[in-house]
Amino acid sequence: MRTIAIISQKGGAGKTTLAIHLAAAAAESVALIVDTDPQATASRWGEWRKGADPEIIDCGAPTLLAGKLSKAAELGGELAVIDTPPHADAMARQAARLADLILVPCRPKAFDLAAIEATAELVKASHKPAFVVLMAGPPRAPLIYQEAADVIEGSFGLQLAPVMLPERAAFHHSTAQGRTADEFDHDGKAACESRWWKRTAISSGGKVWWSIQ
Ligand SMILES: Nc1ncnc2c1ncn2[C@@H]1O[C@H](COP(=O)(O)OP(=O)(O)OP(=O)(O)O)[C@@H](O)[C@H]1O
Ligand SMILES: [Mg+2]
Repeated sequence: MRTIAIISQKGGAGKTTLAIHLAAAAAESVALIVDTDPQATASRWGEWRKGADPEIIDCGAPTLLAGKLSKAAELGGELAVIDTPPHADAMARQAARLADLILVPCRPKAFDLAAIEATAELVKASHKPAFVVLMAGPPRAPLIYQEAADVIEGSFGLQLAPVMLPERAAFHHSTAQGRTADEFDHDGKAACESRWWKRTAISSGGKVWWSIQ
């Protein structure tokens, strides 16, 4: 089972939105979300969609995470996406330790970029492949994205994912109804952008870290 940890110490960075859309984009695999956040946002979303895939598994303590992942793999899970809480070092570290790949959602805004320093250190200490996914930025603002890339790659030494989910109302409306952007408006821009996960591989140094195929 492949395991992706979604980590950002900053609240509201887009962790749960990314976890939901990534797991849903991988629906051809047996994908599940492990909700390690006491706020239980992903679990609530799962209730709103009345149990439709992806399955959501709760995990309340870092010491339980390895066991939950093993159980999911035994039951046929092929992809686990771990949604982590903000400001929670122990859970974020454990998720990073158990993941094959780490994604760090971040808004392309000065304060948000400055705040990923702590997450960058945590991620680097794990020695796992890690990529920043820019979330909820303006759809067309090349200068903002260039500046964000300079900070992420230049100052923090993290890699930028080739996929982002720009600011779209459909991400808000769809999740509020227990749906994904794709289910909410299949032909809309948010749906199209969330399907990028299906056709975009994440690679570096000649190695493909993520591909849905
Ligand atoms: N690409 C986007 N476009 C529009 N709204 C977005 C986008 N990404 C996230 N949001 C909105 O931003 C808010 C925070 O997102 P989300 O809950 O995914 O962040 P989080 O990092 O999981 O927060 P927390 O740290 O509290 O767990 C939500 O209202 C969500 O709908
Ligand atoms: Mg969340």
